[in-house]
Amino acid sequence: MTYQVIIPAAGLGKRMQAGKNKLLLELNGVPVLVHTLRVFENDEACKSIILAIHPQDEKEINELLKKYQISKVSDLVPGGDERQHSIYNALKTVETDGIILVHDAARPFIHKDRIHRLTQKAVEASAAIIGVPVKDTMKKVKDGVVVETVERSSLWAVQTPQAFRVSLLKKAYEKAETDQFLGTDDASLVERLDFPVEIVEGDYDNIKLTTPEDLYFAEAIIKKREKEFY
Ligand code: CTP
Ligand code: MG
Repeated sequence: MTYQVIIPAAGLGKRMQAGKNKLLLELNGVPVLVHTLRVFENDEACKSIILAIHPQDEKEINELLKKYQISKVSDLVPGGDERQHSIYNALKTVETDGIILVHDAARPFIHKDRIHRLTQKAVEASAAIIGVPVKDTMKKVKDGVVVETVERSSLWAVQTPQAFRVSLLKKAYEKAETDQFLGTDDASLVERLDFPVEIVEGDYDNIKLTTPEDLYFAEAIIKKREKEFY
């Protein structure tokens, strides 16, 4: 069981308000992007990494790949205006069929065993994603007023990685482009083909670094893992 992975890293990180791409901020002295890349660099099942980057970060990212000896990046592609465009640019470079994963560079805490469970599910079902059941009570709100309380038991918060057969994901992206459809994740494009997407239960600590307080959560996750390790 092997896979290739697309890592979109071409965002601006506006909500992090760091004055630069949040992926270049350091956690424990190592840039967020490098934390994420290392997971795949160290996973023997990962054949290659296709990284989508913003042209303004190209020099710095090339230096990081050298400094941290990340050797599996086979292609660096320019990102687009939206995450979906960045991933489509990357997907176009994939020639062989097999399993392709998409994983946000902004989620550095994904575990290797979860990646393997997800990949295995994608081998069987052609489309699989990671998610966790929501813990809060969910309500639909309009103009500051609750419209309804949504039944929670069927709601999941979805994360990345998401894994697909290459040919299926290509078809989904082509249709989205034809229809000018913009989704918030990759699976939503596959769902539009009426293709069933299976879900694998993930971890609550596979957080996406989005706003400044996420950096405090990230420090706590790193401390917890260091304790587990020693
Ligand atoms: N991303 C990308 N290309 C874009 C937008 C986002 O490759 N045009 C990437 C980001 O770098 C990130 C992932 O997609 O790894 C998830 O996006 P998000 O968390 O929204 O990051 P940003 O878009 O950078 O942040 P913001 O929306 O706050 O500007
Ligand atoms: Mg964004």
